Amino acid sequence: MAIRLVFSSFLFLCANVLAIDVMRYASVQYSTLYSEFVDSEGKFYPSYGNPLELDWKSTTATSGWTSGFFPGVFWNILQYNASQESLKRAIAVTTPTAPFANVTGTHDVGFVIMSGFGNAYRLLKLPEYLNVVVTGAHSLATRYSPIVRCTRSWNSAQGFLVIIDNMMNLELLFEASNQTKDQTLYNIARQHANRTMHEHFRDDNSTYHVVEYDEKDGSVIRKYTAQGYADWSTWARGQSWSVHGFTIAYRYTKYQPFLDKAIGAANYVLTHLPSSTDLIPYWDYDAPRNSTLPYQPRDTSAAAIFASALVELSGYVTPDLRDRFLAAAKGVVDQLSSPKYMIYGDKQYKLPALLVNGTIGSYPKNPYDVSLSYGDYYLTQAVIRLSKL
Ligand code: GLY
Repeated sequence: MAIRLVFSSFLFLCANVLAIDVMRYASVQYSTLYSEFVDSEGKFYPSYGNPLELDWKSTTATSGWTSGFFPGVFWNILQYNASQESLKRAIAVTTPTAPFANVTGTHDVGFVIMSGFGNAYRLLKLPEYLNVVVTGAHSLATRYSPIVRCTRSWNSAQGFLVIIDNMMNLELLFEASNQTKDQTLYNIARQHANRTMHEHFRDDNSTYHVVEYDEKDGSVIRKYTAQGYADWSTWARGQSWSVHGFTIAYRYTKYQPFLDKAIGAANYVLTHLPSSTDLIPYWDYDAPRNSTLPYQPRDTSAAAIFASALVELSGYVTPDLRDRFLAAAKGVVDQLSSPKYMIYGDKQYKLPALLVNGTIGSYPKNPYDVSLSYGDYYLTQAVIRLSKL
């Protein structure tokens, strides 16, 4: 009996070894960032950074699309280390983002509010956190067009633009509806997912980044990319958003076509990774790598988002697919947490962060080989999800 107990504890430790390593490292790195946050009197929200430098490029609590990921990492750390200090930090960095819930000028209210307050409510169930989620959902709902049957992503005089990333913002609508039984919010989210399922995917389940609609009659004007290599190519992070977004849409609707789309998009990724042992995508699945263009950066954030999505998706599929998706998620997390893709792997790296080799938008126009707050957030989310299986 005693031997069996010791052995099962050993197995438990083995299963969690990954989580312990990444999360312990996250605790250390984000302690440094928390001190910077306190020193800045709550104005420091790391967004991206050059790993060779000491300082992150920072945004504020109420601007940009990335401010929720910093709080999100602290909610993930709390799930690893449920201490009073972890809780204090998570609340301290989340609270200043509350005014973002009133922002109607961007669809990113979903990313910001769900990564901070959404996690806060899920873990603590305090009604004041739910109020922020519901307020944010109503702000996002103002961007819905019943003609296009989507919420608007970017504001543009050119047309009604929807990007594949916007699938992630639906969680705000679905969750608010789930808690308040507001059917309108649910319908908006479901319509958006449905239209996106029909318009953003090619036959092989790869995705277009942007679809421009005519807001007068809802027709499609064009499909193109803003952050990928080409209009016809598949931007790696966008593809990961599609896997994650349709997994979330299935979580709330149990609508089989959304699950099929999440599986299809995931299979696209799994069959287009650099190799069966090299699981970190280049920034765009179609960007050429040849003698004239010898270098293409990776995007570790795309890998982290994908891994986290796969863990949840594995809970909705048949046992054989489940095993395949979980093995892939573990493989991606293993590779991400190796010295090649983490700050600890190179003595010259100075940034208090976890992952390196993230790409912001299209290469070489935007910063690449950088640390990204969303890479760190989705990696820690993936690790926590794996540790709970
Ligand atoms: N949602 C913006 C991005 O993924 O870059």
